[in-house]
Amino acid sequence: MLLSVALLALPSLTLASPTIHKRLANGLALTPPMGWNSYNHYNCAPNQSIIHSNAEALVTLGLADLGYTYVTTDCGWTIPHRTAENKLTWNETLFPAGFPALGQYIHALGLGFGVYSDGGIQMCMTGGVNQTGSLGHENIDAETFVSWGADLLKYDNCWSSAEKGFPNVDYEPLTSPHQNYVNMRNALDATGKNLLFQICDWGVDFPSAWAPELGNTWRVTNDIIPNWRTIFRIVNQVVPQTDYAGPGRWLDLDMLEVGNNIFTHAEEQTHFALWSILKSPLTIGCALNDTLTSVSASSLAIMKNENVIGFNQDALGVSANLTRRYSDEGYDVWSGPLSGNRTVAAIVNWNNHSIDATFDLPNVGLQSAGWVKDAWTNETRKNVMTSYKASIEAHGTLLLELGDTVPVGVYHFDGYVRSGDITIENVYGLTTSNAYEMTIHFSSPAPTPCDLKVNNRRASHQVDAGQSSIIVPVALLAGNNNTLTVSIANPISFITITPPVGEFYPNTAFAISGPGNASHITCVPGLCAPLGVKIGDLSPNNSASLIIPATANVVGSRYVELTYINNDVAISTSWGEGRNARNITISVNNQTTRLEVPLSGRSSELYSSMKGWGDSAVLGVLVHGWKEGDNEVVIGNVGGEKGVQSLGADFVGLKVF
Ligand SMILES: *[C@@H]1O[C@H](CO)[C@@H](O)[C@H](O)[C@H]1NC(C)=O
Ligand SMILES: *[C@@H]1O[C@H](CO)[C@@H](O)[C@H](O)[C@H]1NC(C)=O
Ligand SMILES: *[C@@H]1O[C@H](CO)[C@@H](O)[C@H](O)[C@H]1NC(C)=O
Ligand SMILES: *[C@@H]1O[C@H](CO)[C@@H](O)[C@H](O)[C@H]1NC(C)=O
Ligand SMILES: *[C@@H]1O[C@H](CO)[C@@H](O)[C@H](O)[C@H]1NC(C)=O
Ligand SMILES: *[C@@H]1O[C@H](CO)[C@@H](O)[C@H](O)[C@H]1NC(C)=O
Ligand SMILES: *[C@@H]1O[C@H](CO)[C@@H](O)[C@H](O)[C@H]1NC(C)=O
Ligand SMILES: *[C@@H]1O[C@H](CO)[C@@H](O)[C@H](O)[C@H]1NC(C)=O
Ligand SMILES: *[C@@H]1O[C@H](CO)[C@@H](O)[C@H](O)[C@H]1NC(C)=O
Ligand SMILES: *[C@@H]1O[C@H](CO)[C@@H](O)[C@H](O)[C@H]1NC(C)=O
Ligand SMILES: *[C@@H]1O[C@H](CO)[C@@H](O)[C@H](O)[C@H]1NC(C)=O
Ligand SMILES: *[C@@H]1O[C@H](CO)[C@@H](O)[C@H](O)[C@H]1NC(C)=O
Repeated sequence: MLLSVALLALPSLTLASPTIHKRLANGLALTPPMGWNSYNHYNCAPNQSIIHSNAEALVTLGLADLGYTYVTTDCGWTIPHRTAENKLTWNETLFPAGFPALGQYIHALGLGFGVYSDGGIQMCMTGGVNQTGSLGHENIDAETFVSWGADLLKYDNCWSSAEKGFPNVDYEPLTSPHQNYVNMRNALDATGKNLLFQICDWGVDFPSAWAPELGNTWRVTNDIIPNWRTIFRIVNQVVPQTDYAGPGRWLDLDMLEVGNNIFTHAEEQTHFALWSILKSPLTIGCALNDTLTSVSASSLAIMKNENVIGFNQDALGVSANLTRRYSDEGYDVWSGPLSGNRTVAAIVNWNNHSIDATFDLPNVGLQSAGWVKDAWTNETRKNVMTSYKASIEAHGTLLLELGDTVPVGVYHFDGYVRSGDITIENVYGLTTSNAYEMTIHFSSPAPTPCDLKVNNRRASHQVDAGQSSIIVPVALLAGNNNTLTVSIANPISFITITPPVGEFYPNTAFAISGPGNASHITCVPGLCAPLGVKIGDLSPNNSASLIIPATANVVGSRYVELTYINNDVAISTSWGEGRNARNITISVNNQTTRLEVPLSGRSSELYSSMKGWGDSAVLGVLVHGWKEGDNEVVIGNVGGEKGVQSLGADFVGLKVF
């Protein structure tokens, strides 16, 4: 059923992509590929009975019907040396029937046969065992795989760095792994068979920039690890590159740990939800069924949730992204568009305790929704205006599908035309400001002059005869607790409310102080947009301050968009505490708000002119402590000594709304 939805929508797929990127147009993976792989559970020790029983389980458990159709045998399947004909071959102890028979077995179940190799002199392997890789043998290996009936090739990156004498793993090779993937791409093309090609270079040399034209999927991060902290690290790396995803080309967040008894139920839901909405391949990595173990009912239910699979396989093929991060409160809002004018939103609770969350629809660009469905419980609420309240378990995710939506700031009075008093409750304010613009659209021009009253400022406005709309300023507090009453004799069809445009304060206006190394850094021309200058090396003892003179005269919380740079890629630190994030604090009159920003880099961390440290990004946050008169604004990394990285993100500028 999911498949036919995808196929029906094919003609419009190319329209969905926000940016045009070169891509491999081999007609495969028009939605993210789904399947099973041996690595996360069995490491580099697969064998025939493991593959058989898990492939069978995909069918008997109903997973194949939901789209999990590729079965891939990962590292450990081959032997140290090539055959006399210079070919790769299987380990006969582990795979007594051989790989062609393995392929036939998988095909007989109606599934796709995935094989694994590596663009180095050896494949990734454990236990001191060496197994020959495909470097320099791309053509014969591609032909061999095709002769065995393979449908998919996962291509790894161990032992690939010639200049350094082929170490097992090299995260900083002198030349990019790119060429190894070009060579295998060409070898696959030469076979004449169309294989799904999965690039796995762990994100080395920012593959989103070059992999889409070579493979159908590419890994964007180092390996997932069996620890909850891995989820935050991986998604923080994905944030700046979500727009590279699209039909035929998907960012691979690595195989699933759902079912491996590592995560709590709530954590497994968060993991699966984020992988789904970020349009990662969904590759099951647990033991579904073997002689020792079988998947739990609760993990299986997560992987079989058709709502969530539907977000992943949606015909629009646009990835969600991070829309708001509440670091002090410990939760994120992610969202993206779905086909049929629907929106998916995920509110992720990073806290170690449950929270009562208020999800403000404006955080994902919406004012209201005709219906909102909880993807886990299937509870559906009708006519949700402005906010949705729910409790979210520790490390859990509220995952919502929203339909019949209305854009933020638009209040319709459809069906019937109202006049007289209209009260709108829970009007959302992005920021605290007196400078919102409310436009009142009349259903017919005012027949005679009349008076309009808006109560929250008790202001009265004259509407002239013949006027079909009127713009009036209104004052709102940040948050969803504003009430507006509009009194007018002329009938109203709809109202729009727009926040102020904001004022940008560049880092160059800020004075640096403190004993650390923070300084203004001039960037390579064109980088550190929009200024070409940033403040770098903000230590916990440094700060950069600016007095914003009295202008807005607002008391309380104001929305601020921070332009920042962070390319502190957690690749060698990915097994430990690496987070792909840095903190930055904004203190207003000594009241501090922290934002832990994800990566912003969209260019090679190894070879680009600033190694990704010139690529800026913007994230919004509500900053507290504003008062009337002058305001002291200090950028720093307060408390940074307690973090895993004491240096703050680089600072480019601040837009205050
Ligand atoms: C295959 O792996 C399973 C699970 O690790 C193990 O129980 C079994 O003995 C292995 N079979 C062979 C032939 O190695
Ligand atoms: C798991 O494997 C056992 C032994 O082969 C088999 O009897 C059982 O039906 C399998 N279960 C599933 C769900 O495939
Ligand atoms: C095949 O795998 C077994 C089990 O891991 C191992 O003991 C044996 O050495 C391997 N055979 C070859 C030829 O590598
Ligand atoms: C495996 O390869 C490494 C690196 O080339 C080498 O140091 C090691 O001796 C090899 N091990 C075996 C068992 O051949
Ligand atoms: C919710 O609906 C989806 C899609 O039909 C289904 O997969 C899931 O099991 C349902 N969950 C509950 C709790 O009913
Ligand atoms: C995130 O998605 C929103 C809505 O689709 C879009 O406006 C925004 O540009 C995206 N941001 C990035 C960094 O892709
Ligand atoms: C989506 O919204 C647009 C603009 O309102 C409308 O033209 C279109 O028909 C809608 N599509 C669906 C599938 O509802
Ligand atoms: C959650 O608990 C872990 C382990 O005790 C701790 O390292 C982490 O800082 C806690 N996270 C939060 C957000 O409190
Ligand atoms: C919401 O506004 C009302 C009226 O101004 C006030 O009494 C109430 O305390 C406010 N609630 C919150 C949560 O701010
Ligand atoms: C400043 O930089 C030097 C040289 O890299 C380093 O040793 C020192 O710890 C830095 N100081 C601070 C406060 O970060
Ligand atoms: C912030 O705190 C410092 C140290 O306590 C104080 O000197 C300064 O005046 C305060 N600034 C504001 C704007 O309150
Ligand atoms: C950001 O700050 C929090 C709270 O102090 C800390 O737990 C976290 O490790 C910090 N992040 C980094 C990247 O240092």
